[in-house]
Amino acid sequence: MAHVIVGVTGGVAAYKSGEIVRAFVKAGDDVTPILTRGAERFLGTRTLEALARRAAPDDLYPHLADADLLLIAPLSANTLAKLATGIADNILTQLALAFPAPIVVAPAMNTRMWEHAATQHNIELLRQRGVRVVGPAFGELAEGEVGTGRMSEPTEIVEACRAILNQTGGGELVGRSVLVTAGGTREALDPVRYLGNRSSGRMGFAVAAEAARRGGSVTVIAANVALAPPPGVEVINVVSAAELADETLARDDADLVVMAAAVADYRPSAPEKSKKKKDEGNWTVAFERTQDVLLELGRRQRPGQILVGFAADEGEQGLAAAREKRQRKNVNVIVFNDVSRTDVGFEVDDNEVVLIGPDGETRVDKRSKEECAVAILDNVIPLLASA
Ligand code: CTP
Repeated sequence: MAHVIVGVTGGVAAYKSGEIVRAFVKAGDDVTPILTRGAERFLGTRTLEALARRAAPDDLYPHLADADLLLIAPLSANTLAKLATGIADNILTQLALAFPAPIVVAPAMNTRMWEHAATQHNIELLRQRGVRVVGPAFGELAEGEVGTGRMSEPTEIVEACRAILNQTGGGELVGRSVLVTAGGTREALDPVRYLGNRSSGRMGFAVAAEAARRGGSVTVIAANVALAPPPGVEVINVVSAAELADETLARDDADLVVMAAAVADYRPSAPEKSKKKKDEGNWTVAFERTQDVLLELGRRQRPGQILVGFAADEGEQGLAAAREKRQRKNVNVIVFNDVSRTDVGFEVDDNEVVLIGPDGETRVDKRSKEECAVAILDNVIPLLASA
């Protein structure tokens, strides 16, 4: 159980704060609501107090000492500016300035206010100070406009808070660094064309989200992934296999590395410098090998580190090749994916895998990629504990 202070500032999205408070209370957390005067124009203090099952405090200081997290949702442009400059002119901004534990904010405002250089500067300042920013999302805004500025969904905000609370509280991966690669790399043929693959990044993002939920400090190297970043996870975007190799190997000291990305094995040896014009003849392209990142990680593996690779192959023969790959690449666990099936794997919601580990094999029957991520981490975390 955590003690969360939920600050609410003025804005139409304030009505969603009730849902946020309710989610925390439902999970057994202790919630102290604080509304600014602006928020009270949109939401009654009484309503939030009733949902939190406790009164908004008159005296803040006892709460400072024992709160685990301060969430401000929605965060208005005005309060954001105050936080950025350290103005403490109301109970919420005073609390934020003196707050000793993590702070999460969920901005919500008109698109033009959000995009204004002043606001962008302010949010960047907060990020640099370690404040976790969730959203805002793209969508329809109160004034009927469409753009970025909507407060993120309550579930996403609560998840981001949960990931941080797990990092500082319980969770099996607390104090562990987790590096996940996701998506599929693209190799340039010329400045506009590339050679890619069908990986969506969903499996890798699911592993990252689950690792964050369990308290890990998670970084994802995302190759061309068009999905929303998992809550509480740092995402580094890359395009090519070479970029993925650089970013991944720069973090080769992570406690747990999960290589879920589909990394190109070959790239055009000499991509055209400008867009290739068509002519009568065929286009023959020569390819060269890319670096095998997992193999390199296996070479560098340090004591106590756990490496997980994926193998996409077909049928029983593929499974045998995956077993061999585990040995050859010196990794602890290989997640085998049968790509001859169309109902699991690439571009679909479900997956069915075989986990090949040091102590035998575990078949994970067809289920969602999110549930597969749970099974993968259930399988791998005991290895980490005993490594
Ligand atoms: N991988 C990598 N660097 C590459 C290629 C792959 O790190 N250049 C990683 C993938 O992220 C994955 C595993 O290695 O974890 C897959 O191994 P790979 O040898 O590419 O196997 P498959 O693609 O399954 O099959 P094949 O051996 O036929 O290429």
